Amino acid sequence: MDRAEAQQRIAELRDILLENSRKYYIDNAPDMSDQEFDFLMHELEALESQYPEFITPDSPTQRVGSDLDPSSGSFVKRAHRYPMLSLGNTYSIEEVGEFAARADKALQEAFTYCCELKFDGTAICLTYRNGRLVQALTRGDGVLGDDVTENARQISNIPRTLKGDYPEEFEIRGEVLMPYSSFEALNREREDIGEAPFANPRNAASGSLKLGNPEEVGRRGLWCTLYHIPAQSIPFETHSEALDKAASWGLPVSDDRRICRNIEEVRNFIDYWDTARDGLPYATDGVVIKINELQAQRALGYTAKSPRWAVAYKFKAEQACTPLLSIDYQVGRTGAVTPVANLGPVQLGGTTVRRATLVNADQIASLDIRLGDSVYVEKGGEIIPKITGVNLALRPAGAVPPEFPRCCPDCGTPLVKQEGEAKWFCPNTDGCPTQIKGRIVHFIGRKAMNVLAGDATVDQFYATGLVRRPSDLYAISKYQLMSLEGWQDRAAQRFLDSLAKTRKVPFERVLFALGIRFVGETTARDIARHFGDIDSIAAASREQLLEVAEVGDVIAGSVFDYMHKEENLEEIARLKEAGLQFSTNGGGEAASDALAGKTIVISGNFSISRDDMKALIMNHGGKCSGSVSGSTSFLLAGSKPGPEKLRKCSQLGIPVVSEEEFRAMLPGAAAAAEEVEELTLF
Ligand code: IVH
Repeated sequence: MDRAEAQQRIAELRDILLENSRKYYIDNAPDMSDQEFDFLMHELEALESQYPEFITPDSPTQRVGSDLDPSSGSFVKRAHRYPMLSLGNTYSIEEVGEFAARADKALQEAFTYCCELKFDGTAICLTYRNGRLVQALTRGDGVLGDDVTENARQISNIPRTLKGDYPEEFEIRGEVLMPYSSFEALNREREDIGEAPFANPRNAASGSLKLGNPEEVGRRGLWCTLYHIPAQSIPFETHSEALDKAASWGLPVSDDRRICRNIEEVRNFIDYWDTARDGLPYATDGVVIKINELQAQRALGYTAKSPRWAVAYKFKAEQACTPLLSIDYQVGRTGAVTPVANLGPVQLGGTTVRRATLVNADQIASLDIRLGDSVYVEKGGEIIPKITGVNLALRPAGAVPPEFPRCCPDCGTPLVKQEGEAKWFCPNTDGCPTQIKGRIVHFIGRKAMNVLAGDATVDQFYATGLVRRPSDLYAISKYQLMSLEGWQDRAAQRFLDSLAKTRKVPFERVLFALGIRFVGETTARDIARHFGDIDSIAAASREQLLEVAEVGDVIAGSVFDYMHKEENLEEIARLKEAGLQFSTNGGGEAASDALAGKTIVISGNFSISRDDMKALIMNHGGKCSGSVSGSTSFLLAGSKPGPEKLRKCSQLGIPVVSEEEFRAMLPGAAAAAEEVEELTLF
């Protein structure tokens, strides 16, 4: 490649990398694998080192990828006390050897390595002052970060207060992760309401940490692990000593690290975790090798982008080649059709993979997948395997591309694709069996009406013609149930009892149960609280819907369209008739306005789940808040309440109320709400 060609390739690589860096860090929806991204970055680094005259300060090799979204002003930006840098990475064990050799040459004294896992989440920088968490910043562009303190306070393993001999003030950095179990639950929920699932736990963690609603952040099951105290802040001898100390103050530090005396031991650590990581409950994408002695770290210093005292060895995404046997086209509750590949069973990341999503028709076309092909399946940071390419050498002669169905595989209705949508949809909302059954399954789900029944029961009700819409459930008699195959007296009674209980389910969950596209649990709660009853929601204009915090054009449009369909209004009327709650103070047994105007903070464990406690508060007209402030009416303290919250209450003179005292405020109890003011302080 001559100089002019190199210059052109450098410009090309910068464009690709900057574009993808945005998709990765800001949109949380990368369309290139990490490995592809890293290889292009390495190509650019190599060209720039050959032609240093083309290096400019804005090259992606000179700056850390930024997660600051210029189009969103939702978080206050604050300067990092010490720049938050990235790590040099490699996929080659030889290059780890070269890193060690460079360090050996530069350092005069003997040194050791601290090897750790490379956690695949989103970076965070916490500041503790006098043992209290006072600030949490994202990495941002390395210089400025988004202030996500309120959100970080909702992450269960980030302590708000420390114990032991912690320094007066210090920073500690680490990663916010979404464990696989939370990731799967979140994606199921998103798919259920017709929202695009997150591609992998890292994107889900980073998207969740930047939500505008701290309560929802708390619900997402995020988790944190800390791995770096900027050396300037505390006088330790070694990095591992700093981490041990941090752990003794109650901070979450991983035990999966090891001090290695030579590169051989480093290699063993890497080899071990390359397979052992399959058993971890969260995603890791490599091993970080750090020089352990802080004196040696200082001597080596930093490049513009990363420390010279550390390197990340990244695991190659595990890949397998396997025959594509057939493609199923699955219809979801919202009518979206998803192609799913059936594969020859193949071992990948410790599990046998038989199916992989093909996402949508565009994805099949862009990978140029043909029937009979052998395809590459990958399990990278994500746990849902995906097809990343075709082994052309194994393509049979005359292989033809699969034909995306033109009609719904379930009901035969011609599929439609709306402007701006990547998916094909079955428009037969009211006649397509899969969609009908999907809506009923959603309605009875645990987070919606919580009826004691599952998919098989819904299939049976549908097949026997008993149920076509949720309201039909309320017309089923015990006699009808007992005449169905497999139903006996006890099961029938349990089902009917659980159905009867749905009449007490608060309005926000009823609204969620209706299954309006894009309206998840939290959005349903926000809308229910904002409007108070279903008639006001049905009468609201798009603009009025947009007034609800966190509701944007897409959700507002979806709610508006739903409320302007005759059949939906008829179904709501039938459900009203069946006795369900359609207003926040709907006269159900539990509802009242006893807590109207009260802002309540809850802390500790109660006789019911925290979510149920929040629902109880809201059902009686109260508001829940995540942190104690001047506007808090009282702290509702269960067993083991947070000491910081208690301290803050006594500082601000805010009453602390036990569960028993709280229950006494609700209707049916002798005590009136006003008694709160007289309760003793802790
Ligand atoms: S140390 C000065 N240790 O990987 C750099 N980083 O790809 C200090 N990461 O920006 C970082 N696990 O967000 C360090 N054990 C670990 C890590 C880790 C994950 C992240 C971190 C970093 C990124 C670079």
